[in-house]
Amino acid sequence: MSDQNAQKQAAAKAALRYIEDEMILGVGTGSTVNCLIELLPQVNLKGAVASSKVTEDKLRALGIDIIDLNFAGTLDLYIDGADEVNADLQLIKGGGGALTREKIVAAASNKFVCMVDASKSVEVLGRAFPVPIEVLPQARSYVARQLVELGGEPVYREGFVTDYGNLILDTYDLDVSNPIALEQTLNNIVGVVCNGIFAANQADVLLKASSAGVETILR
Ligand code: A5P
Repeated sequence: MSDQNAQKQAAAKAALRYIEDEMILGVGTGSTVNCLIELLPQVNLKGAVASSKVTEDKLRALGIDIIDLNFAGTLDLYIDGADEVNADLQLIKGGGGALTREKIVAAASNKFVCMVDASKSVEVLGRAFPVPIEVLPQARSYVARQLVELGGEPVYREGFVTDYGNLILDTYDLDVSNPIALEQTLNNIVGVVCNGIFAANQADVLLKASSAGVETILR
């Protein structure tokens, strides 16, 4: 097992302690979340709200009830991974393409616990990892031109369609030094469904695993 995988598993194990008996849990998407899902038989959930079809299938396979967010009310807890995290617990997400549903479930939750391995911590978001931007199919070229105007270099994620039937532009070179402002600017482009900057609603708790163990960082 690679060190990175061991770190993902350690972060997932640390996240278990936030789960309370009979709760409806918001469950994210990705390889770190998959480590958490494997541990969920150890806890007693009322059900789960899934942030993607992939996660939904994995939860169902374990016999966990999937609850529609519209019938779940405000969730007490959402647990997910991230592609990058800064010192303010602001994130880039969407490497797996589930950003829109992830942002919705995170926004509808009182607490967002984010699990990362050491490779995900950065000083400034977006320098190494592109910002994934979900766009309506018809608006792809228009939005790409607007992103170039902003100094970005959008790359169409070929062959990928989101759970909502939309496309992803992975956008390099955007200036993410003010994540809240850029998140808003990107949201204002017509045809953009959602962008992968989680700054207005950042994580509340960061479980940051490294070879030294799991550090808990609170917002
Ligand atoms: C899924 O769309 C993403 O937001 C994931 O949360 C993110 O890519 C982290 O994935 P890993 O846990 O696989 O690194």
